[in-house]
Amino acid sequence: MSFVPSSMVSRANNLKQDITGVLCSGGGYFIQVIEGPQKAVLSSYLKILDDPRHSDCLLIAMVPLKERNFNNWSMGHIQASEDQILERRNLLMSYWQSQVKNTEIVSLMKKLVQLIRE
Ligand SMILES: Cc1cc2nc3c(=O)[nH]c(=O)nc-3n(C[C@H](O)[C@H](O)[C@H](O)COP(=O)(O)O)c2cc1C
Repeated sequence: MSFVPSSMVSRANNLKQDITGVLCSGGGYFIQVIEGPQKAVLSSYLKILDDPRHSDCLLIAMVPLKERNFNNWSMGHIQASEDQILERRNLLMSYWQSQVKNTEIVSLMKKLVQLIRE
């Protein structure tokens, strides 16, 4: 799958809903962090789930945050390689399956973003 969501539409929606975050894509896979008021985050995620252009969405975690991690990005987009995404996806999946503390998942995502931006 090579679809990349229209960042203009996503960013406009997110700005209106006070949502920030980051979308990492590579090899047709996406890993996304959505931050904001709980209701806005959930309704955005429901729209993403309903979008027929992609499949197999998995909610890894919902984490209460003291402060945002991506507060200057209405939805930053980072292009990763398929290997980078798959490696992180496998890690996230294993964390998810072992019920690791949610805060560790957040730091995992921050590390992914740092890694790709370097
Ligand atoms: C991987 C992926 C990430 C997306 N992220 C967002 C997002 O952060 N915000 C958003 O509004 N739409 C996002 N979309 C698009 C939504 O699935 C949907 O098309 C859009 O929210 C519909 O907006 P509308 O109801 O204003 O037409 C994403 C789609 C994909 C495939």
